[in-house]
Amino acid sequence: MSKVELKHIDKFYGEAHVLKDLNLTIEDGDFMTLLGPSGCGKTTTLRIISGLERPQNGVMLIDGVEMINAENAYYADPAKRGLNLVFQSYALWPHMTVHDNIAFGLKIQKLPKDEVDRRVRESLKMMRIEQYDGRYPNELSGGQQQRVAIARAVASNPKLLLLDEPLSNLDARLRIDMRSELQRLHRQLGTTIIYVTHDQTEALTMSTKIALYRAGELAQVATPMELYMNPCNLEAADFIGNPRINFLEGKAVYENGKLHVKTNIGEHDFDKSLMTDQEIPNGEFDVVVAVRPEQITFADATKPGAFPVKIYANQPAGSETLISLQAGESTFIAKAIGLVHYEIDQDVYIYIDPDKMNVYDAKSTNLIKRAVI
Ligand SMILES: Nc1ncnc2c1ncn2[C@@H]1O[C@H](COP(=O)(O)OP(=O)(O)OP(=O)(O)O)[C@@H](O)[C@H]1O
Ligand SMILES: [Mg+2]
Repeated sequence: MSKVELKHIDKFYGEAHVLKDLNLTIEDGDFMTLLGPSGCGKTTTLRIISGLERPQNGVMLIDGVEMINAENAYYADPAKRGLNLVFQSYALWPHMTVHDNIAFGLKIQKLPKDEVDRRVRESLKMMRIEQYDGRYPNELSGGQQQRVAIARAVASNPKLLLLDEPLSNLDARLRIDMRSELQRLHRQLGTTIIYVTHDQTEALTMSTKIALYRAGELAQVATPMELYMNPCNLEAADFIGNPRINFLEGKAVYENGKLHVKTNIGEHDFDKSLMTDQEIPNGEFDVVVAVRPEQITFADATKPGAFPVKIYANQPAGSETLISLQAGESTFIAKAIGLVHYEIDQDVYIYIDPDKMNVYDAKSTNLIKRAVI
């Protein structure tokens, strides 16, 4: 178990400022996922933590012990940092069996043979690949090799496990299975895990915390539920969620402790207690109201708060149906569980719980009214 603190980390590759004053604390026992689009600096962060890369500025502590102090040009030996890194491309030794690939690092640590065998067996079992013990890497599929790479990292019993897109080579079904395995592994080992992915579903399903990157900076660090329900700005909101969150443009005014918002889906008043600490413009200002597709329900016309809209299109997909709706100039999508059917241009009523709406200041793009979780 270990706690990792990154403080004021800057990383340049030549002129390119790849990490910009990065501050991130990973608590003991966290499953922290670094999430963001390609090229935003996730792998670079892992390489700095592991010691494969040196930042130009900043400090890193593991369990309160300084491992990096760029100002003093101090960089602790990677081998002494007590961590294990599994890369996107898992390099297994081709001339060794699965068993020996995993045992190799343990033998170097001079563990007794019984202990080595026990750890190999346990880690293979954990990754559900016991049957491949005697095979060579070229006798395994990409997904199986990836699991061996994770087993090898787990077997060394690291206090910190760094995983860089470890599921990228698996097919969709195995990826879902492996998400469960990794979650259980985390629970079983209690190890702090730092996990890199650009797949938001992976991040939302496994992590205890998510650090959302935006071009070398952190946009938001939060629990999966908080990130999903209250993305801190429009860009974060747009990145998280599939199907995407709906944006509805509107006008707002903040008066007498209430935010009054008007959009094509009606007028809503929000209490001061739901406001974030972002500054609110004076007078009338432009807002964007964000609503998740699953928060839109079809309702009876008589329900208080029900709002008339038109069906634009209906997309049944078996387990769920996406329904495009139109209200004035705004189009947006509702998601219903199972098969539902509406006719194009049919008039219906919808209801959205105002508590679940997010309101963003259109100019600053920051969240000003939170959804209740
Ligand atoms: N050794 C290097 N030399 C020069 N530029 C580099 C080097 N390594 C990474 N970069 C650049 O730094 C930026 C961040 O790279 P990084 O690998 O951290 O991205 P990432 O978030 O892991 O992306 P991906 O999801 O594609 O793996 C990119 O623009 C990349 O081109
Ligand atoms: Mg990467």
